[in-house]
Amino acid sequence: MLERTLSIIKPDAVERNITGKVNAMIEEAGLRIVAQKRIHLTVKQAEEFYREHKDKAFFTSLVDFMTSGPVIVQVLEGEDAVSYYRKIMGATNPAIAEEGTIRKTFALSIDKNTVHGSDSIESAKREVGFFFSEIEICD
Ligand code: CMP
Repeated sequence: MLERTLSIIKPDAVERNITGKVNAMIEEAGLRIVAQKRIHLTVKQAEEFYREHKDKAFFTSLVDFMTSGPVIVQVLEGEDAVSYYRKIMGATNPAIAEEGTIRKTFALSIDKNTVHGSDSIESAKREVGFFFSEIEICD
């Protein structure tokens, strides 16, 4: 089924100026970038975006990191885009991510793990709507 998912290229990748390399892997995998913008999240925005993790031990460091510099937020479209993008990203912890995945290739640690992708179709709807209005998405 044709789906949309929300991707974030995180501050570690923006800082290293490798967002084009990440986009190349996304496009080579067959996903289409149908919306994209560069933003610097406020603490309030990051806390709201990651609200499902608010009771986790890593929440404060996650918010600190995600607000430490600009990110690229993007909408990806393709067949089964939600689960397919998670496969291309690789495991959250790059130490156990498969060869050829974005995180295995670029991630520095479980925090500085280069990309975020929505974890379900419901999350994707909320996360796409969090950053983009329909008029900004063009396929
Ligand atoms: P992301 O897909 O953006 O969703 C939440 C983020 O929390 C995750 O990627 C990781 O970068 C970060 N994180 C830090 N520690 C953990 C952990 N122990 N388990 C899961 N996510 C973690």
